[in-house]
Amino acid sequence: MNEGPAGAGMPSGETAEDQPAPAAAPWSAAAPGSASEPASASVGLVQEALAAIHALFAAGSAAQYLGEPVSQAGHSLRTAACAVATGAAPTLVAAALLHDVGHMLDHDSAAALARAEDIRHEDTGAAWLARWFGPEVTEPVRLHVAAKRYLCVMDPGYYDRLSPVSRRTLTMQGGPFEGDELAAFQALPHADAAAAVRRWDDAGKDPAAVIAPLAAYDDLLAGLIREPR
Ligand SMILES: [Fe+2]
Repeated sequence: MNEGPAGAGMPSGETAEDQPAPAAAPWSAAAPGSASEPASASVGLVQEALAAIHALFAAGSAAQYLGEPVSQAGHSLRTAACAVATGAAPTLVAAALLHDVGHMLDHDSAAALARAEDIRHEDTGAAWLARWFGPEVTEPVRLHVAAKRYLCVMDPGYYDRLSPVSRRTLTMQGGPFEGDELAAFQALPHADAAAAVRRWDDAGKDPAAVIAPLAAYDDLLAGLIREPR
């Protein structure tokens, strides 16, 4: 992995955890999946999940995000901030926040990119998250790479707006959808959610973006965690 100093690629002195939280989180009222609803999981499971996610983001704060000008954790927090800015549902904010945990779990991620190998981080991440979250969170995560291939076909200007790294990984990931791939993706129940996460993913690489720390999402995540099924 391309290790760098804490907060690598971020503005001087910034780490993701140092960023101020927004004045009022959109999910803090009575949004579905918020802390105002009874948790569907034991306290122990919630603590286990939050501890694992925080540990992953702590490591991800010191790892540059595959050639982008932000850290892995900083990119994820920026992607979540984009979701929040659109008033997205808690499940989609969570998916945006957690969409790249597969990269954080795989310490060979940057080396794999260098040798043009697709490690399918979307599958790794979705499988890891499935022990705590339902398909409303895990499916947009699993499909966010396919959504890039989808948007390249559906949005004429989309490819040109991709970062150089995203264009490179697109080739490794199969390129724009062809033939039956497009209709097959559109038929998936979480296709639209995945496309939304993908657009926030693409926008979540601005080093100057104002982001909330991971802890600002704890209540939202806790409200979505459920016992394994
Ligand atoms: Fe991403």
